[in-house]
Amino acid sequence: MAQVPGNCSQGSAPNSASSSVGPEQIQHLLHMCKEAKKAAYCPYSHFPVGAALLTGDGKIFSGCNVENACFPLGVCAERTAIQKAISEGYTDFRAMAIASDSEEQFIVPCGACRQVMREFGRNWDVFMTKPNGTYMFKTLEELLPLSFGPEDLKKL
Ligand code: THU
Repeated sequence: MAQVPGNCSQGSAPNSASSSVGPEQIQHLLHMCKEAKKAAYCPYSHFPVGAALLTGDGKIFSGCNVENACFPLGVCAERTAIQKAISEGYTDFRAMAIASDSEEQFIVPCGACRQVMREFGRNWDVFMTKPNGTYMFKTLEELLPLSFGPEDLKKL
């Protein structure tokens, strides 16, 4: 994937112009998702993923992918982090950072994770990283345009 100027950044000079998350907090999230990846349980895909989820009040929940011998029961890192946060009483999210071992491409959330993220708002930030510290930044609205969410159920 091309590294698009303005959406992509590296190391200690992140482009936070379009994110409400400050540069230090971004770096912290990048670190935390890399750490979370170390716990990935992925004996089938051998594709470890880590996620770090930032709440509105500055708490971070991490998660990793958790696979299962019954393959469809595997859960992505992003949803693990969200489920941990929800189960601790947090529903207000500002950002998520995601890490994998892929040097080639920024790790992007799958469609199922985008929809689960969308449940908790459209306007939070997703930082998709590479192991070298570069990242691509998108809002959830950009990742899942024209989405269906809780508000739509109220339009009956
Ligand atoms: N995976 C994630 O955890 N997050 C992603 O963003 C993409 C894919 C996991 C699911 C599965 O355990 C493995 O990576 C291979 O698809």
